Amino acid sequence: MNTTEIWQRIDEKLSRVALRSMDKIPYTADNGVHDNKADSDITWWTNGFWPGLMWIMYVGTGKEVYRRAAERAEEKLDAAFKNYDGLHHDVGFMWHISSGVNYRLFKGGDSRLRTLYAADLLAARFNPKGGFIRSWNDDHLGWVIIDSMMNIPLLYWAAKEHGDPRYEYIARIHADKVLKSHIRPDGSVNHIVSLDPNDGHVIETFGGQGYGVGSSWSRGQAWAIYGFALSYIHTGDEKYLAAAKKAADYFISCVEKTGWVARVDFRAPDEPKLIDTTASAIAACGLLELGEDRYVGAARETLSSLMEYCDFDPETDPLLLMGSEAYYGRHHMPIIYGDFFFTEAIYKLTGGKFLFW
Ligand code: GLY
Repeated sequence: MNTTEIWQRIDEKLSRVALRSMDKIPYTADNGVHDNKADSDITWWTNGFWPGLMWIMYVGTGKEVYRRAAERAEEKLDAAFKNYDGLHHDVGFMWHISSGVNYRLFKGGDSRLRTLYAADLLAARFNPKGGFIRSWNDDHLGWVIIDSMMNIPLLYWAAKEHGDPRYEYIARIHADKVLKSHIRPDGSVNHIVSLDPNDGHVIETFGGQGYGVGSSWSRGQAWAIYGFALSYIHTGDEKYLAAAKKAADYFISCVEKTGWVARVDFRAPDEPKLIDTTASAIAACGLLELGEDRYVGAARETLSSLMEYCDFDPETDPLLLMGSEAYYGRHHMPIIYGDFFFTEAIYKLTGGKFLFW
């Protein structure tokens, strides 16, 4: 796998896609044409990935078209701040990699405020009695989703930006709780856990987007690998690195048997054969941060296998095909975060040092 060549092919394609989708915030694509969540659902949890992808390309190439597309989407996202009830635990996905990257690169005041607002929204979800950041709204008082580990880097950033340790404190208490309640002894993870909002003990676990209770949803596994790796990077606390490696070892033991591309759920029946390329792309990004050759080797194997599912044609919009929403959702479709993480992994392998999270 020649990563420089792959990067060039991504750039050839995305520099055209950036122009075509300049006024959109895509989630998926239909017949090779991006949809537009900016019009249909501005608070949708994936809306940071398009500007985030544009920032990866900007950082990696310096091309202004990417910066323009990223900033256009960032401005559109302001409408989401007006829908308080529509916002949720995924504000890190939405702003840390959009306005957050813009601010880290250019120090613009509006980008700083957007990112700090998002951090405050996330911090305000912290339950001090239970010791966790709650997921979702409504009556899900104690639900915590493994994906939350990817949102808390926003808090590590806010702690530094404000010079106020509260944000990191909240992030670490949450990470410690997820480590205990979501990571199982064999390294597989629970997707959703219901915790008692008064004392934080585990009440119940759910299958979430996986096959069922006790199953093993591969994208959740990938969120755990990369999420704990990021908590280690931001805090230097070795227990988070150990957790990321434990989740990674389990993931690798599952995918090395089946050609490195993840099935949607590692514990679902063999048929129907459902795969999720997004899980593999996210896991590859996490594996590359674990600091051992065996993990880098696994990431390379994974990305090589994903090449079979890439569409490098500049005339179509999506890059990574065959993602999955959930075991009981839509399958084998392009999803914007698949493009984001595949591109981020290739960026890392070409020597890119900017940490987008
Ligand atoms: N729960 C967000 C995801 O689909 O990964």
